[in-house]
Amino acid sequence: MRQMIIGNWKMHGLRGDGKELAQEIAAAIGPALTRRDVVLAPPFTLTHCLAPLLHEHGIGLGAQDCHAEAEGAYTGDISAAMLADLGVSHVILGHSERREHHHETNARIRRKAERAREFGLCPVVCVGESARQKEDGHAEPWLTEQITQSLPADFDGIVAYEPIWAIGTGKAATQEDIESRMVFLHGVLADHLETDDKPTRVLYGGSVKPEDAASILAVPGVGGVLVGGASLSARSFLGIVQAGL
Ligand code: G3H
Repeated sequence: MRQMIIGNWKMHGLRGDGKELAQEIAAAIGPALTRRDVVLAPPFTLTHCLAPLLHEHGIGLGAQDCHAEAEGAYTGDISAAMLADLGVSHVILGHSERREHHHETNARIRRKAERAREFGLCPVVCVGESARQKEDGHAEPWLTEQITQSLPADFDGIVAYEPIWAIGTGKAATQEDIESRMVFLHGVLADHLETDDKPTRVLYGGSVKPEDAASILAVPGVGGVLVGGASLSARSFLGIVQAGL
């Protein structure tokens, strides 16, 4: 299975610097795209202006959220149809920052994943345990609950495993931790999903940097990485995209 590298810019970037960053990445990415899929998920405000450039270079255009309903009186929200209309291919859903700051529940994330598919977008659903849950030995039941409740049984998309304690801390999970979580998550997915003919791509996310990307991408079961901070520099992001190739 081809690995996927997603750059999640979170709430960073105005038109000038966002375009410059995307141009720098696009100009140098060519050869890596024969081996890996790459998606950039800028903030909504940059979607329209980056779409032509990313499409031209074979880079996927991602979004960081969408609404659970197809349309309606939801001031300030963006629907999956609106994203599809702009040429978006992937949408990150249930990121821990949205679960925390926007009180997103598993049930809501599941509805968002269904809407995304309805409008032809590939959902990238994030799951991950907190440091406390890990220490208390509660990570596995928590991850099982997140997967079984956030993913419809006919889910056709990507899962991103992002331990909360590794996000933005500079301390990625160890290869051993990632490998055992991958075994566990693939097992839960195989039990939960009806679509077991096609294995689900599971990404790792949390402080991925160019220097450790090759070892993370070599862990069995890792279908790619979801990169936050390091995707805001062309040099670091390209280092991750090309790691180990
Ligand atoms: O979506 C990306 C993740 O939250 C990882 O962020 O690479 O800054 O730790 P980070």
